[in-house]
Amino acid sequence: MTARLEGKRIIVIGSATGIGAATVRRLADEGAHVCAADINIAGAQAVAEGVVAEGGRAFAVEADVAEEASVNAAVASAVEQLGGLDGAHVNAADMRTIFADTDAVDVELDIFDRTIAVNLRGHLLCTRAVLPHLLASKSGAIVYTTSVSAHCAEPQRPSYAMAKSGLNALMRHVASRWGREGITANCVAPGFVMTPEMEAGGQVPPQFIEQVLAATPTTRLGEVEDIAAMVALLLSDDGRWVNGQVVNVNGGSLMA
Ligand SMILES: NC(=O)c1ccc[n+]([C@@H]2O[C@H](COP(=O)([O-])OP(=O)(O)OC[C@H]3O[C@@H](n4cnc5c(N)ncnc54)[C@H](O)[C@@H]3O)[C@@H](O)[C@H]2O)c1
Repeated sequence: MTARLEGKRIIVIGSATGIGAATVRRLADEGAHVCAADINIAGAQAVAEGVVAEGGRAFAVEADVAEEASVNAAVASAVEQLGGLDGAHVNAADMRTIFADTDAVDVELDIFDRTIAVNLRGHLLCTRAVLPHLLASKSGAIVYTTSVSAHCAEPQRPSYAMAKSGLNALMRHVASRWGREGITANCVAPGFVMTPEMEAGGQVPPQFIEQVLAATPTTRLGEVEDIAAMVALLLSDDGRWVNGQVVNVNGGSLMA
């Protein structure tokens, strides 16, 4: 692995499992010093310890993106321990609500409210907390994790899609408002990615996997490392002239 991110100080918010955990590992592999922030502090700690065991630099902090004070405290602690901030991957989502996110008429309002609180408002809180530090670095990068759900019409999961559409709008706002001050903001939009936790849990029905593969012009399912690789690029100097984009990483399931 190249040291493309040597010297970069990066926080990954939503890093205990899945795509975020893979991103922590990838960023550290490329030389970054990484703060793994998550509501699941035990999980984030395990990810950071795994990085350190491999010779990388990472540590964990607790963060609940639904709570402003928690986000601010986590980012302050990260910045203190990193000695500044060059990049942020804002990736957290409450994936438990997605199964009860039925349709616009039927969905319980507490499911809608929780989805928006974590998956959209939480990203605004993270943006407000990290931006002053990225501006101090004068070349900071933010990458948010959105979803193809924001673009493809689906008969279910309206709250999730609305949150991700709002997140794309937040990203474009940040890119246009602070681009001239050295900030880039982009979204990575995964197609379906089988995380190690999903695989271990065995909750994804084989028929669903068959449907995904049938709808995707590729040879395999998406893996967490596929997304982590794009996040690493967007947080590196190779990504400095990518700004305000939703970058699809989906094996071709949606071509836009
Ligand atoms: N896996 C997919 O197929 C897929 C597809 C498109 C988009 N995404 C997006 O990728 C991102 C990561 O998803 P994943 O599939 O790796 O799932 P995941 O559940 O493994 O990861 C989500 C992470 O966010 C954390 N989190 C949840 N609530 C939080 C809170 N209130 N505060 C702080 N952290 C919190 C979780 O603990 C977890 O570490 C999400 O934004 C998701 O919407 C995933």
